[in-house]
Amino acid sequence: MKAVRTIAELRNEIQNLKSSNEKKTVGLVPTMGYLHEGHASLIRAAKEKTDIVVVSIFVNPIQFGPAEDFETYPRDEQRDLAAAEKAGADLVFLPSVETMYPKATKTKIAVSEVTSGLCGASRPGHFDGVTTVVAKLFNIVQPDAAFFGMKDAQQVAVIQQMVYDLNFNVNIVPCPIIREEDGLALSSRNVYLSPEERKQALVLSRSLREAKEALENGQIRTAGEAKAFLTAKIMESPLADIDYVEVAAFPALTPLAEGENVLEQNGAVLMALAVKFGRTRLIDNSLLHPK
Ligand code: PAJ
Repeated sequence: MKAVRTIAELRNEIQNLKSSNEKKTVGLVPTMGYLHEGHASLIRAAKEKTDIVVVSIFVNPIQFGPAEDFETYPRDEQRDLAAAEKAGADLVFLPSVETMYPKATKTKIAVSEVTSGLCGASRPGHFDGVTTVVAKLFNIVQPDAAFFGMKDAQQVAVIQQMVYDLNFNVNIVPCPIIREEDGLALSSRNVYLSPEERKQALVLSRSLREAKEALENGQIRTAGEAKAFLTAKIMESPLADIDYVEVAAFPALTPLAEGENVLEQNGAVLMALAVKFGRTRLIDNSLLHPK
């Protein structure tokens, strides 16, 4: 595995790896580092589906709001390189902010509608930052496939929309959410949690699991009931401060009306949560497929 920091080096290394056979496919796993098993699962999926696996590690300043945690976002390059290599990466791209944004950006990619609810509503500008950096990474790496976790389900929907609208020749591969044994979805931000917050954070996955069961056994039926069920469960944890609880069609992300039957939709339905514990904002979701 090689680690490179400039765009020229990266392109050169990809060419070298392709030199024996131009038909070799390239898989990209974009990350912000502080890698955990969720990221590793994407790298392994990329290794399975493509010949040359590129992992990017870049804490992207333009997707953080002014009051968010860009400065304090956890970083550990040495550990990340070891984790990427172990999971099967061939190349790791670690650009500096100056490499990705040599001058103030005057171009941005903004996807509408899919970005207006959920995290897009609580984090204005966030998805413009995500789509702009991912479009740049696609142009730099020119991957055949790119791997994204369903932990960030809205991000998957937004990127799929961008790829469709702008004719990127990249296959977007959504990958399942990886959880701790007790159910907490892995996140680089979990390290911020105090032991008590960590314990109470289990309410995210637990409430989603219980809501799914309640829908499946007919105890609740509508989107309004599902939201009320989730909200009540989350509020049982005194440290939980709800940002949003939403039930929306996936991947369009249009919210279901209160009275709509969740399991009788034509397509998939996403139950999605964002909850703050102290200063740490956690997200989780559950994707329900039509019967
Ligand atoms: P980051 O939060 O580092 O996540 C990188 C990728 O790992 C994303 O596709 C995310 O969905 C996936 N991931 C995170 N936790 C996961 C889990 N528990 N199970 C499965 N996959 C998980 O998402 C970003 O970075 C950035 O927005 C990025 C796309 C890199 C653009 O800057």
